[in-house]
Amino acid sequence: MREEIMSLLKKSSPVPLSGEVIARRLGVSRTAVWKNIKSLQEMGYGITGSPRRGYILEQIPDLLYPLELGERLHTQVIAPLSSYIHYLPHTDSTNNVLKSMAEEGAPEGTVVVAECQETGRGRMGRCWSSPAGKGIYLSILLRPTIPPQNTSPLTLLAAVAVCSGIRAVLPRLSPGIKWPNDLLIGERKVCGILCEIKAEMDLVHYLVAGIGINVNTNLEDFPIPLRSTATSLRLANGGGEVSRLAVAAGVLQHYDELYREYMEAGAAPVLARWREYNITLGRRVKIQNPGASFTGIARELDRNGALVVEEETGEQRNFPAGEVTLL
Ligand code: BTN
Repeated sequence: MREEIMSLLKKSSPVPLSGEVIARRLGVSRTAVWKNIKSLQEMGYGITGSPRRGYILEQIPDLLYPLELGERLHTQVIAPLSSYIHYLPHTDSTNNVLKSMAEEGAPEGTVVVAECQETGRGRMGRCWSSPAGKGIYLSILLRPTIPPQNTSPLTLLAAVAVCSGIRAVLPRLSPGIKWPNDLLIGERKVCGILCEIKAEMDLVHYLVAGIGINVNTNLEDFPIPLRSTATSLRLANGGGEVSRLAVAAGVLQHYDELYREYMEAGAAPVLARWREYNITLGRRVKIQNPGASFTGIARELDRNGALVVEEETGEQRNFPAGEVTLL
């Protein structure tokens, strides 16, 4: 009923709507309307009410509620309905929650979003700083019917989707992708992506793409060691509050379009867009893998999404995985 009341208030805004009219339209009692309005106010919606004029929706909170996100999406696979979006005020890690849901049979396109993560996880066992209400912390469930060795382009796809989503909402910003899927603005990290896969030798059961974007994070919100290397959309865009709802919706919308294109046309279009947004190719890089480290010029992305690095000897090596530092 909350969703229906919200929809009526949005349509009517800025004209007030009386409790009586809402009750009549929904076929419920005025007490039920009053109770739901109260609960919407507790959720952060700015609804003012006066006995004579009725209720007016004055402000929508910048919280990643399924109702709000769903309304901004026109997707077919990723959250085609708002019931695919699971909202948590706080959690340990959205990837952990979504992996458990995947094990229980959650459908492709399920999304878990949290306002805050107590133990947000990054690549290579690192932590992801996830202060409440400052960033976007979300995970997307995919069930592509492909062998596990073909999934690399899907991890690159996530970076392209975030880049496109950010650029659509904040055209002044042009984040670039550091291979494989870190997003940097002016050499500072603004977004990280952690893709986790469950697969057999020749079949992927599921892939969880976890996306963390620093949106309204101020420098003092980051742990001290990150303050010289991290940034947020707000800091990079000049300091004004950025709508997390708009950015999250933009990312999910682009994710949906790119994923459908990938399923129809294969990896080539995704890789082409990755090349367009990348800031890695042509740069001198250090690439680290457990137990080994190489330095050279990042020359190309091969057709599986591996990074081709030319060492000082002129020899080229393909790296399907690793941690890149731009030198
Ligand atoms: C990295 O750059 O190291 C990857 C960071 C990924 C962070 C996101 S936030 C949402 C999702 N849940 C997690 O625990 N991690 C990812």
